[in-house]
Amino acid sequence: MAATDAGRNGAIVSLLIIGARVVATPRGSGALSGAAQGALAILEDVVLRCEQGLIAFIGTRTEHDRRFSPADEVLDAEGGTVLPGFVDPHTHLPFAGYREDEFDRRLAGESYAQIAASGGGIVSTVAATRNATFEELLEATLKRLDRQLLSGTTTTEAKSGYGLDRDNELKQLRVLREAGRRHPVEIVATAMPGHEVPPEWRHDPDGYVGYVVSEIYPAIAAESLAEGVDVFCEKGVFSPPQARRLLADAGRFGWRIHLHADELTDLAGAALAAELGAASASHLLHASEQGIGALASAGVIAVVLPGVSFFLRDRFAPVRRLIDAGVPVALATDCNPGSSHTESMVQIVILACLGAGMSTEEAVVAATVNAAAALGRADRIGTIEVGKQADLVIFDMPSPKHLVYHFGVNLVRHVVKTGHLVVVDGKRVTTSE
Ligand code: NIG
Ligand code: FE
Repeated sequence: MAATDAGRNGAIVSLLIIGARVVATPRGSGALSGAAQGALAILEDVVLRCEQGLIAFIGTRTEHDRRFSPADEVLDAEGGTVLPGFVDPHTHLPFAGYREDEFDRRLAGESYAQIAASGGGIVSTVAATRNATFEELLEATLKRLDRQLLSGTTTTEAKSGYGLDRDNELKQLRVLREAGRRHPVEIVATAMPGHEVPPEWRHDPDGYVGYVVSEIYPAIAAESLAEGVDVFCEKGVFSPPQARRLLADAGRFGWRIHLHADELTDLAGAALAAELGAASASHLLHASEQGIGALASAGVIAVVLPGVSFFLRDRFAPVRRLIDAGVPVALATDCNPGSSHTESMVQIVILACLGAGMSTEEAVVAATVNAAAALGRADRIGTIEVGKQADLVIFDMPSPKHLVYHFGVNLVRHVVKTGHLVVVDGKRVTTSE
């Protein structure tokens, strides 16, 4: 890397990336489905210019030098592959405490549902998150954001849902707001008091639903702390009628709708997501044919979470049936301490291919533009095209196939976020904004 002439006031306003063997990217500003889900443009012999946070040029070096003055900074990709920064459209980032004891029990054969029924599961993380201070939760969240960034994620969704009362849900979402101010990874916050019925409301789940709708949601909306809302629709958690009630006010607050659907049982969650006009439905391991058809007709994005299948030693979502039915598939980590403890979208892409049967190209589309579409951002991020935000990852690999083919190591070399180098040679650097 060589820094040349610094820009106005010393700020780096233009960055030229040279020496890439391949730039691989989906194209367009919306979710890709069917055959288009597997279409990656492969560009060779191109340089990339980032300017004022956007991609300003993709083409030959000669053409670049004819049209532009020298960039403030030049990065040599040294034969690597450039992909769009990953977008992680489903995480539970602001949590406290860990559940390795439960993990041990699962390794010994107990199921996630059995552990939850015996008083473990989500409620144990709720207790730890309620006990954590704002600063403790912020520190834990910032560390996770660092791990995401170092594995190539430049935008992440993050949910509340381990507070489950007004003040603790607000605490989680305020942590996300503060983390977004301090960290280069862009955070898209989702309100999820509909994650579980907390212990103090166990005797009256409908009463809890009423409390969420009348007290927690308005408090979140009053501080503009969320862009979307999510509910865990599952046997023993929230029934479809309760989920419907929890999502009925989304329009009033201007929130996008997301749903945890058909994860452990088929409750017709996919059809519910379609009926409510959800942006995405996650999990879908047990989705029926009718449910899949409803997602396709309504244009709901399926957020597949192969980390959960792997971590819980469960089946994988029916990815091939989803793609064949024309449902756009996105991938996410679901980063949480119970069912998928990872921040790495690279690991998720690998599991999606080797576990769920996606091609590398389909998985890359799922982890970039389709994930961006699930968060209403495909017009701005998720592809490498002129005019899009300059969120890029340079991998130490000769082709995008190596993302999966060369598994188990971190091939992320450099990360560019909004035109700034934020990871160089695998290490975080502070930006010169
Ligand atoms: O997405 N399914 C519900 N919620 C999380 C698990 C959360 C937890 O176990 O703490 C999920 O898998
Ligand atoms: Fe989840």
